[in-house]
Amino acid sequence: MKKFVVSTDKPYEIIIGKDIIKDAGNYIRQCISPCRICVITDSTVNRAYAQVIMTSLMEAGYQTSKIVFPSGEHSKNLTTYSNILESMADEGLTRSDAIVALGGGVVGDMAGFVAATYMRGISYVQIPTTYMSAIDASVGGKTGINLLCGKNLAGAFWQPSLVLCDYKTFDSLPSIKLQDGVAEAVKCAVISESSLIPKIQEEDYEYVIERCVSIKKSVVEADERDMGLRQLLNFGHTVGHGIEKLSTFSVSHGQAVAKGLIVESRAAYRMGLTDTNIAPELSNLLSGLGFDLSIGYSAEELYRFALMDKKICGDKISMVIPESIGKCRLQKISLSELKQFVQLGLEDA
Ligand SMILES: NC(=O)c1ccc[n+]([C@@H]2O[C@H](COP(=O)([O-])OP(=O)(O)OC[C@H]3O[C@@H](n4cnc5c(N)ncnc54)[C@H](O)[C@@H]3O)[C@@H](O)[C@H]2O)c1
Repeated sequence: MKKFVVSTDKPYEIIIGKDIIKDAGNYIRQCISPCRICVITDSTVNRAYAQVIMTSLMEAGYQTSKIVFPSGEHSKNLTTYSNILESMADEGLTRSDAIVALGGGVVGDMAGFVAATYMRGISYVQIPTTYMSAIDASVGGKTGINLLCGKNLAGAFWQPSLVLCDYKTFDSLPSIKLQDGVAEAVKCAVISESSLIPKIQEEDYEYVIERCVSIKKSVVEADERDMGLRQLLNFGHTVGHGIEKLSTFSVSHGQAVAKGLIVESRAAYRMGLTDTNIAPELSNLLSGLGFDLSIGYSAEELYRFALMDKKICGDKISMVIPESIGKCRLQKISLSELKQFVQLGLEDA
């Protein structure tokens, strides 16, 4: 088991271990006094893991309740959000009560946003149950929901009181969902720690989660409100998001990011922004991990989506430039250079 503290405005602990959710109540007692705890989860995770958490919370002296919404990204909307708030108000939850977010990134983002806004903010604990949310979504304090116009358009920065990460829950994950986490782990290895790669290949979850979270933690601590450095964590996502959207989400986030990592690495080299072409080595690695790296979209299509990237500021965009596997930097390029960037990234190796 591994434990460490994230030193944001409100410091919190991250605990990573196997089969630790059965002791969730005891861990939570160390940071939240006895109160009512509302477990928010989705329908799939509810069936697999809610009972063990509820029992553990009751044994630790908490009064409990539970709100379940249908699994999937389509639930991350205003209707689910307002239904949850109304249920909590109906139950009479107060500012000294708390929320447990039990599930993947959708539950984490939704329950975190509810926690940030219910009675102007109450405590919450993240219990991520997907590899992706353990590595990424549960750390950093970004919470939010989708609007009809786009993803994550309403949200808040709200840090949890504790993140409890039990990688035994990955046993029940569909393989495509596991791959989403693998892609994010590879991204972390490429931006700052090449020695992670063999651990990803060995499926050493405890090590990989601890290192990825530490990498995200150090970036988040330096840039809590996402003003610059956090953009490093977005490597592969300018092109990846375009692929995800063009496929109308039939290509999963992880598969799309894996493709994006290759295109953006190759483009950085071909544009002369780095002396090293990491794309061939990265392609071998990702293919070996089971990723399909075909793109299937034109530079024009991907450029159109790249123009919606959140790393654009004025007429420039910050791109992540790999200097080697394990070392990247940010560099601004103009939007006209971006077009060439995408084109060069798509040309065969
Ligand atoms: N806040 C952040 O910093 C941040 C970062 C990255 C992604 N996100 C968000 O995270 C979301 C994606 O998260 P996700 O990939 O975890 O998807 P998800 O939460 O939709 O979970 C994927 C599917 O797996 C199921 N599931 C979850 N845990 C399971 C388990 N242990 N066993 C079996 N099935 C399980 C879920 O019910 C769901 O059907 C997106 O909405 C994205 O915007 C947020």
